[in-house]
Amino acid sequence: MPVLISSELTGPPPVSIDYLRACGERLLRLCGREKGELSILLVSDSRIAELNSRYRKKQKPTNVLAFAMQEGPETQDYDLLGDIVISVETAAREARLENISIHRRIAALLIHGLLHLLGLDHEKSDEEAAAMKSKEEILLEKLIIEQRRGGMVKLAVNVDHVATLREARGINEPDPVQAAAICELAGAQGIVVHLREDRRHIQDRDVRLLRQTVKTKLNLEMGATEEIIGIALDLKPDMVTFVPEKRKELTTEGGLNVIRQKKKIKKAISKMTKADIPVSLFIDPDSGQIKASKEVGATFVEIHTGTYCDAVTEVERDREFDLIASAAEEAFEAGLRVNAGHGLNYLTTQRVAQLGTIEELSIGHAIMARAILVGLDQAVREMAALVQL
Ligand code: PXP
Repeated sequence: MPVLISSELTGPPPVSIDYLRACGERLLRLCGREKGELSILLVSDSRIAELNSRYRKKQKPTNVLAFAMQEGPETQDYDLLGDIVISVETAAREARLENISIHRRIAALLIHGLLHLLGLDHEKSDEEAAAMKSKEEILLEKLIIEQRRGGMVKLAVNVDHVATLREARGINEPDPVQAAAICELAGAQGIVVHLREDRRHIQDRDVRLLRQTVKTKLNLEMGATEEIIGIALDLKPDMVTFVPEKRKELTTEGGLNVIRQKKKIKKAISKMTKADIPVSLFIDPDSGQIKASKEVGATFVEIHTGTYCDAVTEVERDREFDLIASAAEEAFEAGLRVNAGHGLNYLTTQRVAQLGTIEELSIGHAIMARAILVGLDQAVREMAALVQL
């Protein structure tokens, strides 16, 4: 069931082609038209206004136009269904108004266009308009259910800052290895540590011991340098997450620029893959970075939630959340496994956990900060409850 996608936009489309194709194919199947062939064209407002004027005598842009290959009930026997033209500018405006991601809005427009191609027409009568609306709602609900990952979101606790406190005194406590055991007993489903080049918190000894003691899953965060790659290959954590690392930063500042370092990252991933260590790439919620992550062979991406968590106004936070939601949908549809993290706290976590496309959240600072006041066991239990609500 080919779904052909093309774009007349001057720049890269704001939704990924993989996502659109997956949506198109799912919708054809949900409509019982597995063999149907569909073409989706992404255009600007000015182009759709031109088509709207030529074919519908309406002198303004619209969100979607459908051009059926065959009119009327005989569409049932016809595999070539026709063309759906979507204005991404109108879709983006509507998404902002509805407070949903552009991916979700374009999926809804795709459904509307597809029902037109299948012979439904809301302009014929009020009854047909109501029938079409109800079909649209049912299809969108089914599509969203299929796009959800299923299963509970996991909480992976980053214990770096237990080591930060230890290193502040240069003695042997508190011990991140003991802390990791408490986190697991309290419900953490993974332990994360970042072995930095400057060893400012986690030390080689910590990672070695954690490799032996962690009962859930050990995720080693690391810069893709030769030294740390060697350590990872030797210790074989359950997975690694490549992050950008700058000596002067207080914490990881932004996502990896995978686009700019494709060759280097691909090589590092291939070394890990040969040792059966899955790789996650920590990236900003950006379509280009997701595509590049897929190209270099990552198993996971971890979407950077820092800007969303640091947002000061509600408008800014909503905007950043939409970017995370869109990026997670796109990565999920492209076949990547999706984690998220950085800066998440007891107020910002739940919304991200409920996205439906995310497998695991990596949280450190907020849990350790609360642990100082209420104890580590309670701090982890409270966060686990938010993640799994
Ligand atoms: N994910 C990544 C890739 C990180 O670098 C960090 C910080 O070490 C985290 C998650 C956890 O961030 P936070 O400590 O702010 O919860």
